[in-house]
Amino acid sequence: MRQFGYPRGIAGRMAGWVMAHRRSNRQRNRWVVALLEVQPTDQVLEIGFGPGLAIAALAGRANQGQVYGIDHSKVMVGQASRRNAAAIRAHRVHLAHATLDRLPSFDEPLDAILAVNSVGFWADPAQRLQDLRRLLRPAGRIALATQPRYPGATADTTVRAAHELQDLLTQAGFTQLRVETLGLDPPVACVLATNPPK
Ligand SMILES: C[S@@+](CC[C@H](N)C(=O)[O-])C[C@H]1O[C@@H](n2cnc3c(N)ncnc32)[C@H](O)[C@@H]1O
Repeated sequence: MRQFGYPRGIAGRMAGWVMAHRRSNRQRNRWVVALLEVQPTDQVLEIGFGPGLAIAALAGRANQGQVYGIDHSKVMVGQASRRNAAAIRAHRVHLAHATLDRLPSFDEPLDAILAVNSVGFWADPAQRLQDLRRLLRPAGRIALATQPRYPGATADTTVRAAHELQDLLTQAGFTQLRVETLGLDPPVACVLATNPPK
């Protein structure tokens, strides 16, 4: 599990390969990006992009905007950069080796933020979500998705994880929460929320 939270070395490269090729992972990332309803001119940030599946889907949608990503794993920055090389060369995708507690700054407020199976690894997630909310424009959107992967995880585990995400988002000041579920085994929950309009 540690390798999925902070992929390093050869084991980290293998974890990245698994995340990039597992069918459910691919489906989950595509689904979350579709739920976020990214518009062509959007500025979007992904936290913990791993091998970069959602980054590729975001770049396909925000094709006149900008897609940013941060991940604290150098191995994942390498894999995601190779996967998205053309969009990076075109200056439409920008991937940084960075941790969430040292967020880079952005020239303009962001339209949307997402994190897929990443929040569970964050220290002080309520504080981190407050920091992320400050990067969003008023009425900007966030999507946090979770598919519990540990042995024995069930649909109930997903429901509990979704409740935790809702609590964290509410504590961080997000509103208009909505939960969507994708029927994989175990199911994926995606909690969508909004930075309150001014
Ligand atoms: C389980 S992987 C999920 C990867 C990808 N989102 C996916 O669904 O395929 C979690 C990712 O979050 C990243 N991560 C975890 N905590 C982080 C933090 N505090 N700052 C930046 N990245 C983080 C890890 O390096 C890893 O790439």
